[in-house]
Amino acid sequence: MNSKLKTLLLACAAAATLGISTQALSQAAFPDRPIALVVPFAAGGPTDAVARMIAIPMGKALGQTVLVENAVGAGGTIAAAKVARGAPNGYTLFIHHMGMSTAPALYKKLAFDPLKDFEYIGQVVDVPMTLLARKDFPPANFSELQAYIKTQGNKVSLANAGLGAVSHLCGLLFMSQMGVELNTIPFSGTGPAMNALLGGQVDLLCDQTTQTVPLIKDGRVKVYGVTSLNRLSALPNVPTLNEQGLKGFEVKVWHGMYAPKGTPAPVLEKINAALRAAMQDPMVKQRLADLSSDIPPMDKITPAGLKTHLEAEISKWGPVIKKAGIYAD
Ligand code: MLT
Repeated sequence: MNSKLKTLLLACAAAATLGISTQALSQAAFPDRPIALVVPFAAGGPTDAVARMIAIPMGKALGQTVLVENAVGAGGTIAAAKVARGAPNGYTLFIHHMGMSTAPALYKKLAFDPLKDFEYIGQVVDVPMTLLARKDFPPANFSELQAYIKTQGNKVSLANAGLGAVSHLCGLLFMSQMGVELNTIPFSGTGPAMNALLGGQVDLLCDQTTQTVPLIKDGRVKVYGVTSLNRLSALPNVPTLNEQGLKGFEVKVWHGMYAPKGTPAPVLEKINAALRAAMQDPMVKQRLADLSSDIPPMDKITPAGLKTHLEAEISKWGPVIKKAGIYAD
């Protein structure tokens, strides 16, 4: 018998004598290999940016690499279903935004239940949005945009990241307040949607500051407004849509981190501690502040904080979406 096998058998025998289960041993050793953090949208977009920003400090805290994996499609619901069926051992984690709370009302057939199929790790970050156009789009400001849209109607294209993406919800809110129907074009994330905007293939996009602030500052896109009620410190000269006449227009995108249902409590505690450490990392704090994105209070970066918020958001969005009559089969 080789010596490694002998040592392992002796450790198991000793553990059995002491009444320690192999499950408890593996939970104590967690993590002993890399962890996958699944992102439900394309690489290079805002959710991907947040995931990659926190993966490194989380990995440092856990002593293992946290690898970002993109699983795209259907506004994030394909990835959510995949994670819901994943092994509940802590090696598969999931980061998603408020689409987790709108999916039950938006999709008639959903292959997961946000309230039954996951363990909750904590809220992650709150991100405002910006209404953008390709650089050479004719309207020079928001009032010109309103006039242009009134005459051009659905000749104007509006990109989004699919049903349930926040770019989709923001676009719906914009069209409903403007009383117009634009030509909406879905992508697998606002990473590719942004490439289409930069390439001049689409006219408008509503997207999160975690992707848009550097592009606005570099003048690579045209900006018409921010979706917060107050101006953003990162973009002090950009007016809010609210102050430009879209009264009450507000979209702020919350994010949460999840694991498959049944992931053991000691493992979840280690992951939560790593998430909290990442959210206090000076580089992460500075980077998010530069993007006018808020780190939630520490009592929200908890399983209970996320679960309570998710439940409240599902109750809030369900009736709104049903009333609007938007859903996929
Ligand atoms: C992304 O990461 O592509 C976005 O979060 C998509 C969206 O919801 O608009």
